[in-house]
Formats: sequence, C-alpha cells, structure tokens
Amino acid sequence: MWLWWWSTMFLLCIHGCRAQQSYVDNKQLDCETNHTTALGYTCNTPAASPTCQSYVTFRSEPPLYNTPSSIAALLGANPNNITAVNNFSSTSYTIPANTVVVVPISSCSCTDGGFYQHNVSYVRRNPSETYFSIANNTYEGLTTCQAMISQNSYNYRQLQVGVNISIPLRCACPSANQTAAGIRYLVTYLIAIGDTYTSMSEAFGGVDIQSILDANELAVTHIIFPFTPILIPLTTPPRFNASATTATPPAPPVIPVAPSGGGGGGSSNTGVFVGVGIGVGLLLIVSLGFLIWFFRRRKIQNQHKITPPPPKHFPPKAMIPSDNQSWSVSAEGIKFAIESLTVYKYEELQKATGDFREESRVNGSVYRGIFNGDFAAVKIMKGDVSSEINILKQINHSNIIRLSGFCLHQGNTYLVYEFAENGSVTDWLHPMKNAKKNESVLGWKQRVQIAHDVADALNYLHNFITPPYIHKNLKSSNVLLDSNMRAKVTNFGLARSVDDNEDGELQLTRHVVGTFGYMPPEYIANGLITPKMDVFALGVIISELLSGKEPTTTTTTTRPPEKEEEAVVVQPAQLSEMIKQVVGGENVRGKLAAFMDANLKGEYPLELAYSMAEVASKCVAADLNDRPFVAEVFVILSKILSSSEDWDPSDEFEHSRSLSHGR
Ligand SMILES: *[C@@H]1O[C@H](CO)[C@@H](O)[C@H](O)[C@H]1NC(C)=O
Ligand SMILES: *[C@@H]1O[C@H](CO)[C@@H](O)[C@H](O)[C@H]1NC(C)=O
Ligand SMILES: *[C@@H]1O[C@H](CO)[C@@H](O)[C@H](O)[C@H]1NC(C)=O
Ligand SMILES: *[C@@H]1O[C@H](CO)[C@@H](O)[C@H](O)[C@H]1NC(C)=O
Ligand SMILES: *[C@@H]1O[C@H](CO)[C@@H](O)[C@H](O)[C@H]1NC(C)=O
Ligand SMILES: *[C@@H]1O[C@H](CO)[C@@H](O)[C@H](O)[C@H]1NC(C)=O
Ligand SMILES: *[C@@H]1O[C@H](CO)[C@@H](O)[C@H](O)[C@H]1NC(C)=O
Ligand SMILES: *[C@@H]1O[C@H](CO)[C@@H](O)[C@H](O)[C@H]1NC(C)=O
Repeated sequence: MWLWWWSTMFLLCIHGCRAQQSYVDNKQLDCETNHTTALGYTCNTPAASPTCQSYVTFRSEPPLYNTPSSIAALLGANPNNITAVNNFSSTSYTIPANTVVVVPISSCSCTDGGFYQHNVSYVRRNPSETYFSIANNTYEGLTTCQAMISQNSYNYRQLQVGVNISIPLRCACPSANQTAAGIRYLVTYLIAIGDTYTSMSEAFGGVDIQSILDANELAVTHIIFPFTPILIPLTTPPRFNASATTATPPAPPVIPVAPSGGGGGGSSNTGVFVGVGIGVGLLLIVSLGFLIWFFRRRKIQNQHKITPPPPKHFPPKAMIPSDNQSWSVSAEGIKFAIESLTVYKYEELQKATGDFREESRVNGSVYRGIFNGDFAAVKIMKGDVSSEINILKQINHSNIIRLSGFCLHQGNTYLVYEFAENGSVTDWLHPMKNAKKNESVLGWKQRVQIAHDVADALNYLHNFITPPYIHKNLKSSNVLLDSNMRAKVTNFGLARSVDDNEDGELQLTRHVVGTFGYMPPEYIANGLITPKMDVFALGVIISELLSGKEPTTTTTTTRPPEKEEEAVVVQPAQLSEMIKQVVGGENVRGKLAAFMDANLKGEYPLELAYSMAEVASKCVAADLNDRPFVAEVFVILSKILSSSEDWDPSDEFEHSRSLSHGR
C-alpha cells in the first residue's frame, strides 16, 4: 500500500514537478556523482513532441572551431544552416573569437534513456583530454561529464587517444504547456561571466524573463553559473543580438561574501558545491551520546595519548567466507591485509551496530559500532577497496585514522576504523544550514593544532613511508576530530603511491576526480598528480580554518542592483584565490581582519594569523613549483603552534579588536 502510494506520488511528481527542465546548477563539476539534472534534459511526459527542431549556442574558439564548417562538424549540424541563421558571409567565414554562434539542430530527440539529446561523436586527440575537459572546454558545457560517462562504455582509464566517444549534446523540446503558450523553440544557451537574466532576455530579442525562469525551474534570486547551459524559450527562430550582452560589463567587480547563515531567498540551492557533503545529522546524533562517553573515557585514559580502540578480543583470524565470487576485494589485497588486520564476522558487525539501524548511522554509509565497550566506525563499501586497506594497514600515525579490521559479506566490504567522536572539521566550520547550529566554535589554538596535525599526517605520507603516498582527496570533510580535538586524516580511497620508476614526480591520470575548490589547476587541466596536489589542498584547509568560509563560495556585486534581475551574478569564487588577495597588496591587516572567521570574535593573534595566511597562500600557488614542500609547511606550522601556545587570549583581545575595528 505504502509502496503504491509512494510510486504514485513519484509519478505525479515527474509529471507535475518536472514539467519543464531543471537547471544544472553547477552539478556538472562533480563528475563522480550521478546527479539527474547533469545527465540531460528529461523527456516531457506526456510527450508534446519526441523530436523537434532545436538550437544551441557555441562561442567561436580559434583556431579549431571558428568557422561555420568547423563548428558544424563539431556539433553535428549543417554549415549552410549555421551560415544562414547567423548571417555569415560563407561557410568558411572566420568568426571572431568568442562570438556567440547560434547553431540549428535539426533533430533533437528523446532517447531511450529518457533524455532529449542530439548525438555527435568526438575522437579523443590528446592524452590530456578527460571527460570533464571535453564536456567543459571543447563542448563549452553543451554536455556534461556525467552524461558522457553514462553513455560511453569506456571508463576513465580506458580512455585512449583515438577512441570515438559519443557526445550527447543537451537540447530540449517544448513541453505541452510551453507549446500552448506559443513557445516553439528552446535554445540551449551557454551562460558567460557577466550574463544576467536581463541581458540574456535582451540578446534574444526581449524574451519574457519569467518564461526563462519557468523553463529552467529557477527563481529570480537563484544564482546561475558560467559555463552552464540554460534554456531560452522562443516563439520565433532565434537571432542573437550580441550588442545586448556586450553592452553589459564583461565581468562585474566582485567581492567575496561569506555564505550568510541568514537563509536568504533561493539559498537552498545556491552555494551548493561538489562533495561538501558530510552528513547533516552527524553532530546531532554523535554529540549527545558522546559527551557522556567522552567524559567517562577521559578519566580512564587521562595519561595516554589517545589510542584508538582496537577491538582486542576478537579472534585475529576469522574464517574466510567460501563464496569467493562475492568478494569485492581482490584476492591479492585480502592476502596482504589479513596478516595485520582483524577479520570480523558479519554477525559481529550486526551486533555492534544494532543491525545497522538508523540510529547507528553516522553519515552516508558510515555507522557507529560498539565493540567490547569501545566505539568504532564501520564503513560499508562497494567495489575493490584493497588499495585503501593496503595503505591503511601499514600506516601508524596518530593523525591518520586507524583501520583495525574488516569484513566481507555478500559483495560488500565493511571497514572498521577507530572512531572520531567530534565529527569532521567541515561540521565545525560550516555547519549545514538545517542542522542545529553547533554551539561551540573552534578556538584559535584548536585551529592551529588542526592545521599542524594535517600537515604532520601529510608529511608522514609524503616523506616517511615507502612507497610515499599522495592522499589526492584531502578536504575538510576528510579531516576528523577525536575527543581531544586532534585531527585525523581519513578517506584514502583515492590515494596513490608515488611510483619510483616514474622520476618519483610526474604522474598523469585521465581520471580527474576530486572536490572542486581543493583541486589544483594542473590536476584539473592535465590530470597531473604530484605531492604538491596535497599541499594545495592543505592551503585550502588552512584558509578555511582562518576564515570559516567554504572552499568555493558564490559572490555578489558590490553595487546594489537597480533591478532585481540584475542581482544575478555568475562567478563562483575560490577560497584559494581569496587568500592570495588577502596576503598581497596594501592594507594587509585590514583585509586579513575582514577575512578572518567572525566566530572567532577577534580572539586570535593577528601576527600569527598573518603567518598562517601567508603559508596558506604559498600552498595554493597556481604554479606547483612555487608551492612549498609539506615538510616546510609543517615546520612553519609547528612554530606558529608553539607561539600560539604562549599566547593568552586576554592580552591580545583588545589589541586585535582595535586592529579589526577600522574595516
Ligand atoms: C500547465 O499550466 C497550468 C496553468 O498555467 C498549470 O496549472 C499546470 O500545472 C501546468 N502543467 C504542467 C504539467 O506544468
Ligand atoms: C546580413 O548581413 C548583411 C551584410 O553582411 C547586411 O546587409 C544584412 O542587413 C544582414 N541581415 C540581417 C538580417 O541582419
Ligand atoms: C537545414 O535547414 C533546412 C531548412 O531550414 C532544414 O530542412 C534542414 O533539415 C537543415 N539541416 C540540418 C542538418 O540542420
Ligand atoms: C543517441 O545515443 C543514445 C545512447 O548513446 C541512444 O540511446 C540513442 O538512440 C541515440 N539517438 C539517436 C537519435 O541516435
Ligand atoms: C571550463 O571551461 C572554461 C572555458 O571554456 C574555463 O574558463 C573554465 O576554467 C573551465 N572550468 C573548469 C572547472 O576547468
Ligand atoms: C548513472 O546513472 C546511469 C543511468 O541512470 C547508469 O547507467 C550509470 O551506471 C550510473 N553511473 C554511476 C557512476 O552510478
Ligand atoms: C564514431 O562513431 C560514429 C557512430 O558511432 C560514426 O558515425 C563516426 O563515423 C565515428 N567516427 C570515427 C572517426 O570513427
Ligand atoms: C540589439 O541590442 C541593442 C542594445 O540592447 C539594441 O539597441 C538594438 O536595437 C538591438 N538590435 C536588434 C536588431 O534587435
């Protein structure tokens, strides 16, 4: 009965809620996650038209794609039709760089997958091309990495030069309601920096702004992003009037604005960026139960440095299940791991986690379990996790989460880790909007300690184990805090060893994954993996600790908009850029005081904060050769930590207050 009700509601919702198309909302950056809106524009139900004439826009890109013929070849269109629609003189006319070209797509059709698309194919030409770079840079956002991944059989590693990749170009046909309103065409327009709803409306000859908003399920306050597509509904074939867009300033002056907790209009979707998704309820669930436990435990182990609770009393070698096929860890990995780790029986995990009941869930697929009175985290994983097991089993560092054992059951691997009572640094710095606000705030010394601990862990990974490892996915949600607020780096699923044969330095990947905001430019552009990639992420984490800002925030214009529509600004700001602006130029003190987390209430030593900001800005240098090695960062942070230990908040309070006053 319930099932029936839910599926009925779901279907109604597809009809009602999905009447028009939803905006991609920068989810195209997150290649690893299957966001439905990133996969394509969904077919209308009931279908007003399964196939239609449609249009897309493309900005001419010399030297490869700047004539009607070359653009037509890239987009599977007819060069004569491009020439005619844009009033160009011939199919070989050289279109000035960055000119918006309207490209007619004669058949935009609904595919079996449930998306409107126009299929073209693209042959990968050089090893630096990734699904993301092809979607974002070559096709300028007319497709997404997620759509390409789901429609091509090659995974990232099989993506060889010369493979013929199928490209689903985004297009859409009007819904029944739009048709009834006289709309005949939908243009897939690529948003550029500086575009506003008003400028887009004028460029297409005065399209009703509300109809643009409706077509994309947007509200006027919703922030839109450059390099993403938006649908423009038209009653007549499109003509693009460039002077309407060039009339607006190309890039409005922007100042960084911290994400306000005040829940302004539309903020539920704004500022939602890749992967910053540690469970909402983590602190809520965890903190209560643990306060009690934490105090009890503190008494017991006052003296020791926090030792992870290894479940000591289980037999060190349990029986290995016989159904080999269902294992998701390679046999090699198992053999290796079994020597140093506890192998749990599934029943033991069931007992420890109350049969994986909801109350034991910490977040996502991580559960809290009790083994002989000690807490441990149990993470459920699919696929081959032998690399994570193999790295963690040989690591013994107090700032890296300890793996104590694992279990294989019905194709899943269950990893059992030491438990970090205080959740992730993300939870403390950027509590989710709908979570209960975390009463306590990280103090200055705690923040310095966390930065120091993370650098310590990285220094160990890069310099003290053989082979050295690159974490590759360092971010504040992967830094957990134990009961003493000491940091523990976790999530080694993407970590890579530095292979000695390859100069120990250069590695390339075609598999660019990670979290936007923490990934250095050479990795995004070329898939280059070096230890400096972790240094970059460390710089971003230090910047977060200083400012309390998220690694990627949205920005807004300095001047108050005259019309509401013009308030829309389309530039996401990277914290790694902001920190460089804070440290460089004039009035450094004023800028720094303004940058610092307001939750610190001025209670920090400005000189030391400056040193931290300076080291962070070096870590995020665009050129990886300008970034320090983590060993150097660690030394600097150790000095800052010991100076912070001598610092007394009451001395400095007045001082830094007066400094931050004049902003
Ligand atoms: C179509 O438009 C009508 C009136 O504007 C509205 O009530 C209805 O919900 C719309 N239908 C869909 C499927 O969006
Ligand atoms: C097309 O361009 C020619 C000159 O190249 C111009 O005379 C004509 O008015 C243009 N037509 C339109 C519809 O803009
Ligand atoms: C070009 O335009 C003509 C008429 O406008 C249309 O019949 C034809 O299908 C178009 N061809 C392509 C490939 O878009
Ligand atoms: C486009 O490709 C998709 C999947 O790759 C396929 O399902 C669909 O039929 C194709 N459409 C056309 C018109 O060829
Ligand atoms: C996407 O492409 C544009 C140029 O078309 C580029 O400026 C931008 O940096 C790219 N985005 C990313 C995340 O690489
Ligand atoms: C994403 O979804 C598509 C279709 O819904 C599916 O084919 C594909 O395997 C999914 N990809 C991942 C990584 O889950
Ligand atoms: C790529 O594949 C498509 C269809 O799958 C085909 O039409 C096209 O000719 C191929 N291109 C090359 C260069 O092989
Ligand atoms: C193009 O836009 C400009 C500025 O908005 C306007 O003055 C001009 O009349 C428009 N031209 C056409 C052909 O609509």
